[in-house]
Amino acid sequence: MKSLILFSIIVACGFVENVVSDNNQFPYKTILNFGDSVSDTGNSVTKEPFGANSPYGSTYFKHPAGRMSNGRLIIDFIAKAYGLPFLPAYLNLTKGQHVKQGVNFAFSGSTALDKSFFDQRGLDVPKAAYGLSTQFEWFQKLKPSLCTGKEDCATFFNNTLVLVGEIGGNDINAIIPRKNLTEVREFVPHIVQAIANMTSKLIEEGAVHLVVPGNFPIGCISYVLNQVNSNKTEDFDEFGCLRNYNAAIKYYHDQLKTAVDELRQKNPHVIITYFNYYSAARRLFENPEQYGFKGKPDTFKVCCGKGGRYNLNEICGLGNSVVCEEPSKHINWDGFHLTEAGYRAVAQGLLEGPYATPPLKTPPFKIPKE
Ligand SMILES: *[C@@H]1O[C@H](CO)[C@@H](O)[C@H](O)[C@H]1NC(C)=O
Ligand SMILES: *[C@@H]1O[C@H](CO)[C@@H](O)[C@H](O)[C@H]1NC(C)=O
Ligand SMILES: *[C@@H]1O[C@H](CO)[C@@H](O)[C@H](O)[C@H]1NC(C)=O
Ligand SMILES: *[C@@H]1O[C@H](CO)[C@@H](O)[C@H](O)[C@H]1NC(C)=O
Ligand SMILES: *[C@@H]1O[C@H](CO)[C@@H](O)[C@H](O)[C@H]1NC(C)=O
Repeated sequence: MKSLILFSIIVACGFVENVVSDNNQFPYKTILNFGDSVSDTGNSVTKEPFGANSPYGSTYFKHPAGRMSNGRLIIDFIAKAYGLPFLPAYLNLTKGQHVKQGVNFAFSGSTALDKSFFDQRGLDVPKAAYGLSTQFEWFQKLKPSLCTGKEDCATFFNNTLVLVGEIGGNDINAIIPRKNLTEVREFVPHIVQAIANMTSKLIEEGAVHLVVPGNFPIGCISYVLNQVNSNKTEDFDEFGCLRNYNAAIKYYHDQLKTAVDELRQKNPHVIITYFNYYSAARRLFENPEQYGFKGKPDTFKVCCGKGGRYNLNEICGLGNSVVCEEPSKHINWDGFHLTEAGYRAVAQGLLEGPYATPPLKTPPFKIPKE
């Protein structure tokens, strides 16, 4: 009896060890990510300091960590769920650094469309210089370190998840203060085309598992609420989000989903997952308490800021902004970006809930509660 128990323990330990150390059991061995501040893990801070400033990173990393939140982002939770390290930022790579488990090309403030697109329309969007075209060039430069030759690259991409976004949010942000919603809608096909083009180019490079995310319900995002500062009850839905802005995002999503469908038809050997950020985030604003967040009237108040209707009179990291007492009870961190708790809830909805179509391969690990 005694030896049987001992035997079972040894077998059990051996099994656990095996699961943890045997990389073959992990559905993806590499993650490549493109996007903006929603998933930037350190690219933009190599060029400019904002975002590196305290109190960014303060809750989880205990110091600024190149991320535009108080802690981990959706991409961090995804990497961890698949047993992979946090993605190193491409611009922060050191010579000879291990890149085979993933690299992040996302750059805060960047756009789906090229800078020339905005220039032609008299819109000054400097970070568009780090948009999808630039991120694609970075990827092409790095590619020889990822795989070489047809066979090696086929095996490499068979085990690689490639995320094309979230991107496009800054294209919309760049237009919103200057254009009305009718004009915003006119930009939508261009943004969608840029994302579809990028996805196509990555498929040509060999990607076979891709993710294209939609965007957040911008009508529920504190920066937009603050910017519009409406006093008309008819502008808001029953949850306190701006109807028109969310309608514009839905319009954008319909086109994006159609573009993704077209890419699927053109490339039947490829799997493209659509991440429904909109619904995964919107449920938090609809039922904040159910997900552990503050209910009305604090649902839309940012954690890092100071004063005013949305706690946005002082911007996070500047002036006299302060960090709220319980960051995990706020959905929004600084106006634009979610808190780690907000991103965690969205990531859960994508990996463990119904907001990925088709779902990604089953992650070996659950998203941590803390
Ligand atoms: C940049 O790279 C250095 C050296 O590898 C590392 O210590 C630092 O944490 C990285 N920065 C970010 C934001 O990841
Ligand atoms: C890639 O995966 C597919 C299906 O999972 C398999 O049929 C194919 O042989 C794999 N190719 C390589 C080069 O590993
Ligand atoms: C939006 O702006 C355009 C160009 O300035 C104008 O022609 C149009 O009437 C505006 N639409 C609405 C709904 O305000
Ligand atoms: C997308 O690609 C097509 C074909 O290469 C090109 O004509 C078009 O300008 C591109 N559009 C965007 C927005 O990148
Ligand atoms: C809404 O009311 C507040 C307080 O009375 C005022 O400061 C703000 O300008 C009003 N917003 C608009 C869009 O009129």
